[in-house]
Amino acid sequence: MSSQTLISPETVEPKGRAVGGTEHSWCRAVPGGTGIAVLAILTSKLPRNSGLENALHKLQNSHPILRSRLHSGSNTNTFSFITSPTPFIKLKAFNLSSTFKILENPLKPKNQSLSPLHLVLEHELNQNSWYNHNKAPSFINDIQDMFFATTYALPNEKWVLVLRLHASACDRTTAVSLLQELVVLVSEEEKGALQKEIANEEEVTSSIEDLVPNKKAKKGLWERGIDMLGYSVNSLRLTNLKFKDSKSPRSSQVVRLQMNQKDTEKIIAGCRSRGIKLCGALASAGLIAAHKSKSRVDKQRKYAVVTLTDCRSVLDPTLSNHHFGFYHSAILNAHVMKGGEKLWELAQKTYAAFASYKNCNRHFSDMADLNFLMCKAIDNPGLTPSSSLRTALVSVFEESVVDDHAALQKEVGVEDYMGCASAHGIGPSIAIFDTIRDGRLDCVCVYPSPLHSREQMQEFIDSMKSVLVEGCNHV
Ligand SMILES: *[C@@H]1O[C@H](CO)[C@@H](O)[C@H](O)[C@H]1NC(C)=O
Ligand SMILES: *[C@@H]1O[C@H](CO)[C@@H](O)[C@H](O)[C@H]1NC(C)=O
Repeated sequence: MSSQTLISPETVEPKGRAVGGTEHSWCRAVPGGTGIAVLAILTSKLPRNSGLENALHKLQNSHPILRSRLHSGSNTNTFSFITSPTPFIKLKAFNLSSTFKILENPLKPKNQSLSPLHLVLEHELNQNSWYNHNKAPSFINDIQDMFFATTYALPNEKWVLVLRLHASACDRTTAVSLLQELVVLVSEEEKGALQKEIANEEEVTSSIEDLVPNKKAKKGLWERGIDMLGYSVNSLRLTNLKFKDSKSPRSSQVVRLQMNQKDTEKIIAGCRSRGIKLCGALASAGLIAAHKSKSRVDKQRKYAVVTLTDCRSVLDPTLSNHHFGFYHSAILNAHVMKGGEKLWELAQKTYAAFASYKNCNRHFSDMADLNFLMCKAIDNPGLTPSSSLRTALVSVFEESVVDDHAALQKEVGVEDYMGCASAHGIGPSIAIFDTIRDGRLDCVCVYPSPLHSREQMQEFIDSMKSVLVEGCNHV
């Protein structure tokens, strides 16, 4: 293995594998600002740094992808994971005055009170260690970490712990498992409990493409051509939210959508009684809010919704949620809005469109095409309206994350957390990361700024929220 010479000498030889197609798309997208995955945790108890670092090393030990680095070959379009036999992550710690300096950035909204957790999250979403990776000659044949951990001290004995990862190593399922496993490890560290020996997995799990059940990915060339044409022609006629500034450099910002328990229960019940998942209601509320934001709502417009589906359970062999990496696939549906749509009718329609695509295995058969189109747009932003790199109005996840682990989290000091991935490179106008935490809907909504402004997106999310709440009260 020629890349071996690039790594510091280790006692055991590092292993590795070339990235798969979806992972490759992330390697292309992340330098532009999409796919920086961040989990930000507000805590009132910070284990002694060594305790936290121990826990992180244990995570690296049990998950080879977390102790892998990304190697880009001399041909800038080839990437591989090089897995270290030993854990190596170093915790970076910012003291109170450094944290203040960082959070006093000029992009901070003047008269809005965003929580320190929120500000740290936004700051980290824009820490792009992989920027310019493809272009600068000095970076060729480079090796970069994919997993970073940082603590930010806050007043009143609080901290934000941030884990930041490259999307090819971390989809949302990974982030959820990462939080769960970390909480358990920290709690064991604190109790000085006898540690269970965690099996030290040696190799990174195969890529999603290599685990697709064989017959499902096959699609005739002719059919493939028509689909490609369909996607690209469709995308020309898709409606976007108003672009506020399409010229200035972009960064990711976040609006949080939170709902009380009563409203959340009504929405979940509404979905259940109609046999649909929450993603249908969220997409429907997004479409209605988008169409309402247009000056002429009577004009027919077409919007795209991307639904991300976790494929772990249908791969061959199946993977558990504790297999870390990126194993989601996207399904893109376009929806025509005429004005006057009702939340639940539209939710049923959008969910049915998604479900029928999934039934036809489009999440497998279209994977390569969508990856191809994504890379095409990254190379030629001019193919998208105003070079906005927007591929859809909104993205949602098929399955909501349900987190009922508050008790253990509290025990180790976790007060709140927010997790999502950046989207200011290629992506939707709003990427919704929903969780149901102790019965309350809590969504992190990521958008590219200043393509969209904070006021615009806050208004949009408020509008989505009232569509959801009103829709439930009219049943
Ligand atoms: C905080 O960190 C900065 C940068 O490392 C250092 O210069 C400063 O002295 C530290 N402040 C305190 C109070 O420890
Ligand atoms: C800031 O305050 C002004 C006046 O109260 C208001 O018009 C504006 O919308 C506010 N901006 C934000 C970002 O909240």
